Amino acid sequence: MEFIKYQVDNQVALLTIDRPKALNALSAAVLEELNTAIDNIDLNDARVLIITGGGDKSFVAGADIGEMKDMNVEQAEAHGKLGNDIFRKIETLPIPVIAAINGFALGGGNELAMSCDIRLCSENALFGQPEVGLGITPGFGGTQRLPRVIGSMSKAKELLYVGGNIKADEAYRIGLVSAVYPLEELMPQAMKMAQKIAANAPFAVRACKKAIDDGINTTIDEAIVIEEKAFGSCFATEDQVEGMSAFMEKRKEKNFQNK
Ligand code: CAA
Repeated sequence: MEFIKYQVDNQVALLTIDRPKALNALSAAVLEELNTAIDNIDLNDARVLIITGGGDKSFVAGADIGEMKDMNVEQAEAHGKLGNDIFRKIETLPIPVIAAINGFALGGGNELAMSCDIRLCSENALFGQPEVGLGITPGFGGTQRLPRVIGSMSKAKELLYVGGNIKADEAYRIGLVSAVYPLEELMPQAMKMAQKIAANAPFAVRACKKAIDDGINTTIDEAIVIEEKAFGSCFATEDQVEGMSAFMEKRKEKNFQNK
């Protein structure tokens, strides 16, 4: 692949969007490669995925403006669907996805980050949905995920209507990211978090993700039943026996097999 680098080390997968000449902007070719890379993730091997941007300046500077400039209505709608389908695939990937945001996360870049489960960023990160200044709306989920992610319709609408950028500390303050690190510490910290997640029972982690995501879109009465089913399903796994046996035996080392 030309624009996507992918590796798995110790059950942690790292996907890098690498198009430095355009600050990792999402051209159609980048999106197609991203789609293929996500489809090819071996969920028996990878327990967590980290997504980051190549270089030290940008996570993703948005969808490729040059490519979109001359699109007609049908082409733009299809382009939006292409991005939305891939980002939804990332959002519903069975394993947790951490966005390690190492610079610009603008437009489609912020939308990609918001499709991930957890967002960590570097001090030089810059966030925004500048689309209205380009004469368009966000097209890869920004109008829908921003209010959901930050839980404030007022702030989300402000960001979407004004189209300005916010720095890392403000992104942290409004809950868009969970933590801010100096740039050189971002990847080690993302790896550390990923390794902690990977050390837990994979079935339980994945059931947690599914219960959270399925439950959030329904009533609390339906949601707690979703949790009951998730909780119950863990008791059919060898990893539940291993986790609880380790506790009873006062044993620190656990050998979770994703079974
Ligand atoms: N699309 C295409 N090319 C882009 C790009 C983008 N989104 N962002 C940056 N680039 C290119 C620039 O055109 C430039 O290329 P050249 O060297 O060939 O001129 C190169 O990347 C470097 O960019 P700059 O020289 O502009 O770098 P800078 O440090 O001065 O500024 C920046 C960085 C503030 C991110 C600026 O590049 C910028 O504003 N980029 C556009 C950000 C944006 O508007 N994103 C939203 C896109 S629309 C969208 O994403 C819609 C959607 O929801 C699907």
